[in-house]
Amino acid sequence: MRAWLNGRLLEDPTAPAVTLRDHGLTVGDGAFEAVKVVDGRPFALTRHLDRLARSAAGLGLPAVDDAEVRRGVAAVLAAEDLPLGRLRITYTGGVAPLGSARGDGPPTLAVVADVLQPSRPTTSVVTVPWPRNERGALAGLKTTSYAENVVALAHATERGAGEAIFPNLAGNLCEGTGTNVFYVVDGELRTPTLGSGCLAGVTRALLLEWYGAHEVDEPIDVLESAEEIFLVSTTRDVQAVTRCDDRDLTGPGPVTTECQKVWATREAENVDP
Ligand SMILES: Cc1ncc(COP(=O)(O)O)c(C=O)c1O
Repeated sequence: MRAWLNGRLLEDPTAPAVTLRDHGLTVGDGAFEAVKVVDGRPFALTRHLDRLARSAAGLGLPAVDDAEVRRGVAAVLAAEDLPLGRLRITYTGGVAPLGSARGDGPPTLAVVADVLQPSRPTTSVVTVPWPRNERGALAGLKTTSYAENVVALAHATERGAGEAIFPNLAGNLCEGTGTNVFYVVDGELRTPTLGSGCLAGVTRALLLEWYGAHEVDEPIDVLESAEEIFLVSTTRDVQAVTRCDDRDLTGPGPVTTECQKVWATREAENVDP
C-alpha cells in the first residue's frame, strides 16, 4: 500500500496522518473515488475525476484540483508495482469544528494505492428493506457517508450473500451498496435510470456505451422474475448473480456472458496512458 496526503507521499502509509478534527472523519463530509489499476495504470481516471468534481460540487466543497489529484495518483503508482490494484481518492472538508458546520481550512486530499483481489465471476444478492433516498441532498453523490452501505452489506453477509440491493423511496430498483444492477426481462437488458438515485457508475456508463441497455425504473420486484441479473462496478467488473433472495438463477446467462466478453475486450482501451 502507498499513500499520498496533501501533496506528499507518506513514508509509512499505515501511520496516523489525518487530524481527528478532519470533517470527513467527524461527520462524513467528503467525496471519494475508487479507481481500478490495471498493469500499473489507472482505468478511466478522467471519468472518475469528473465524478469526483460533481460529488465535491454537490457537497459544496471547493473545486477539486485535478492536476493535484493526478500528481498524487502518479506518485503512489510510481512507488508500487501493481498489476491489479485500486486507488482510493478521498477529498474532505478538512479541519473543522466538531459539529456539522464547516471550518475555514483547506480540504484534505488523500490518494491511496493498494492491491485489488480479482473478483469472483458470480455472486448472490439479497434485497434490503431500507430505501435509498432519490430525493435527498446526497442522491447520486459518491460521499464518504457510506454507513448505510456498511449496514446493508453486513445484512447481506449475515445471509451468505455478496451484495445488498436497495429499492428507492418509490419502491423501484435502485442499486447495490457498491454496484449498479443490470437485469434481463424478455431478452431485453435493463438498468435503472440515474433518476432512481443510483450512483452514475463508471462501469455502468461504459457498458451502456459498449453494449447498450434500456434505462428504465420499475418496482424492485422485477428481480423476482428477471431471466438474468448482474452487477457492475470498478472492483467487480461484470459479475453474474446466481441467487437473488430465495431464488436461484442459472448463470451466467447469455446476455451476462456477452457483456463480460465485451467488457474484457474493451477495458484495455480505457486505461489512461
Ligand atoms: C453506491 C455505488 N453504486 C454504484 C457503484 C459502481 O460505480 P463504479 O462503476 O464507478 O465503480 C459504486 C462504486 O463504488 C457505488 O459505491
